[in-house]
Amino acid sequence: MCMQTHGHGQGERALNRRQFITMGATTGGMLALAGCSWTPRNAAPEEDDAGGAAANTASSEASSIDDGLVLVTGGTFAMGSPEDEPWRSDDEALHDVTVGDFHLAPKEVSQREYAQLMGSGDGNAEIPVANVSWYDAVSYCNALSEKEGLTPVYSIDGEDVTWDLSANGYRLPTEAEWEYACRAGTAGPFNLDHSLSADEANYYGHYPYEIEGNYFNQEVLDVQPGVYRGEPVASGSFEPNAWGLYDMHGNVAEWVWDWYGSYDADDALDPTGPQTGALRVNRGGGWNDFAKNLRSAYRASLTPTSSSPSVGFRVARSAILGEGTVGGRVAQEAVGGDTLVVFFSWSGNTRQIAQVVASQLGVESVELVCAEPYSSDYNTCLDEAQRDQNQQARPALATKIDDMDRYGTIYLGYPNWWASIPMPIATFLESYDFSGKAIHPFCSNGGGGLGQSVTAISKLVPDAHVGQGLSIRYAGGDDMPQQVADWIEG
Ligand SMILES: Cc1cc2nc3c(=O)[nH]c(=O)nc-3n(C[C@H](O)[C@H](O)[C@H](O)COP(=O)(O)O)c2cc1C
Repeated sequence: MCMQTHGHGQGERALNRRQFITMGATTGGMLALAGCSWTPRNAAPEEDDAGGAAANTASSEASSIDDGLVLVTGGTFAMGSPEDEPWRSDDEALHDVTVGDFHLAPKEVSQREYAQLMGSGDGNAEIPVANVSWYDAVSYCNALSEKEGLTPVYSIDGEDVTWDLSANGYRLPTEAEWEYACRAGTAGPFNLDHSLSADEANYYGHYPYEIEGNYFNQEVLDVQPGVYRGEPVASGSFEPNAWGLYDMHGNVAEWVWDWYGSYDADDALDPTGPQTGALRVNRGGGWNDFAKNLRSAYRASLTPTSSSPSVGFRVARSAILGEGTVGGRVAQEAVGGDTLVVFFSWSGNTRQIAQVVASQLGVESVELVCAEPYSSDYNTCLDEAQRDQNQQARPALATKIDDMDRYGTIYLGYPNWWASIPMPIATFLESYDFSGKAIHPFCSNGGGGLGQSVTAISKLVPDAHVGQGLSIRYAGGDDMPQQVADWIEG
């Protein structure tokens, strides 16, 4: 059953900030803090906001559409972000897009819906499914169509997937449909008339939008850290957007149809993205992303075979059936050549993991060393790394790999820095030609997992095949070698 949106507005809500749990600041030593999340420095605990009323329940108007898809009435909107939006990327070029009417699920597909349909057990009825590849997502859409007697939308031939525009079954939204629905008529960084607090969405709440402005200049002191839940939560825990759609920001990011690529300014009427590519887009950010990566315009991308604990999907259906097909082949070349482990490490955890990776593969490893190393003082290093990330700097490397051409497969290790790659990794990726090569990322982190690091790598080397990432907390525990072995085995 499909239901009309009501387009109700969202009132201003008082923030009900939760206690910010202060972690001991890490030092330059090897770290394995069980049960702790990484936090940047000795942050003072935040005061409770006793006056803030919790606003985490769905409005009755929105609850009435829980059983069916929402009919999103089409229109024209400015897709992308303006150049003055903090933390925007160049791939968010602002352009006018018109989308027709379509139906969109108010919630992300749940673990139970996925497990029962795909025959893999039971699962939680409320928590969104994650750890599903883009292929899993389109297969689910087809299975749901068949179950409900609709015409499946996708023809799946190995890695080539074609969308039949005349089919009435379930599908993923296009990237444009997703952003249009997320924005629900808004034009700012989030679909609210204010910034996004951790009481309004499930994300890495220690890092609300623009908190970085306080690290050097205390520019936005009203921005305060909030709760980091560290896992997906029940759909419907937060207010929906103005069109009755839940979790368009956070909880799990959502696969959409489109290949990742530059926006086509001419492709403004119901765009379906590039014809071919190596990466598929996911949108909205997830429970372990910083708020800047939950922005309405932010574009994440991963290889369609990879999965992430913070990426799931929601289903859509066409309201107006079209003609013809949209498809395209996976733009990837066969990988040959030798294998090399390359890594950057500041305090040694990634180095330990890299040694295990290299030893299990029986190959050599190369450590990336900066021409001007980061400070060995932890807080100074945080500042330096934050500045580098703010400026998207490319720190010079002292390490040169002369015979890079002979390697077809790179196992690439790094620490999670500010939920992404350290900038020396960007320098490395831009120093050589990785077209057609395979890159397997492994990331040591303080609890933030891979963050946006795999997306960052994928965007820097879009012609490489970036595989499933391995996340290890600090240097891992006794089972780290087994985790590495399982990951290498695939
Ligand atoms: C500059 C800097 C930024 C960091 N940012 C994050 C982060 O955003 N999320 C996280 O989980 N850990 C973060 N950490 C913690 C490191 O990822 C973690 O300690 C890792 O094990 C360090 O690896 P290494 O010993 O190879 O340098 C950060 C550490 C530093 C020094």
